[in-house]
Amino acid sequence: MVEKLHKIWVDGELVDWDDANVHLLTHSLHYGLGAFEGVRCYKREDGGSFIFRLNEHIGRLFDGCKMTLIQPKFTREQIMQACGDVIRANKLDECYLRPIVFIGAGDMGIYCPNNPVRAAVIAWRWGAYLGDQALKKGIRAKISSFARHHVNVSLAKGKIMGQYTGSVLAKREAKLAGYDEAILLDPQGYVSEGSGENLFIVKKGVLMTPDLSSSILEGITRDTILTLAREEGIPVHEGRLTRDQLWLADEAFFTGTAAEVTPIREVDNRTIGDGTVGPITRRLQERFFGIVKGTDTSHVEWLSRV
Ligand SMILES: Cc1ncc(COP(=O)(O)O)c(C=O)c1O
Repeated sequence: MVEKLHKIWVDGELVDWDDANVHLLTHSLHYGLGAFEGVRCYKREDGGSFIFRLNEHIGRLFDGCKMTLIQPKFTREQIMQACGDVIRANKLDECYLRPIVFIGAGDMGIYCPNNPVRAAVIAWRWGAYLGDQALKKGIRAKISSFARHHVNVSLAKGKIMGQYTGSVLAKREAKLAGYDEAILLDPQGYVSEGSGENLFIVKKGVLMTPDLSSSILEGITRDTILTLAREEGIPVHEGRLTRDQLWLADEAFFTGTAAEVTPIREVDNRTIGDGTVGPITRRLQERFFGIVKGTDTSHVEWLSRV
């Protein structure tokens, strides 16, 4: 259960945790239209707290609003400011942040153009999403019977609330079958992504991941890893991946704000490589954690001090 903190930013004000509620007629609760983000704030070696790639996350939040024709009442700068305010108000040094823009109560029905557009930023403490052991040893994944949405059925490039029913169903199916995470194929049968993560494989030294024209979220951690891989001189290929390419990969891993860089040691009972964390995964994991935790002083442009 999420540990109760003190304040949540709601529509421009810091309100008490227990008072941050919505009415049952909240439009987004019924119809799922709204955009959200997941952002992490890390405590670095020097003791300072920094939000990782805040600008890009809030940019994607506004992209989601643009695609759904939702006009937020607040600017990007105000939402970014709210992220810092929530961290300070709760005296947090590390946390996960959840900015959310949604349609409030008013009229009911599908078309309610006059309902208020509301915004909130919530912070909570969140350790390793798939567990500390997952980061060290890797996880077991299962290809889901649920496909990722066709690009014209959903807005793949947005973190749109209602779209996550597919992810929740896929995750439930995987967990009930004894696996840690689900991998979704796209409607054409190619590998897409995890329920809340992008997916990478390594084959013969080449780092591969589905390209952006596929039905994946344009992950900010994905972009981080691609940037770091290029810096490390690792050849990178963005393109279609088949299920058997995944099964036969030398290494595989997930990336995401919540999952960070989580190795995958098994897919559908096929061991990936030798079942341990491979050298390229390990190197990229080290670079990623080095930057967010402050032992690597590169890419300060990705960090916003709280
Ligand atoms: C479906 C999906 N894919 C990928 C990701 C990874 O994106 P990011 O690295 O920006 O957190 C997420 C998490 O936000 C997600 O929900």
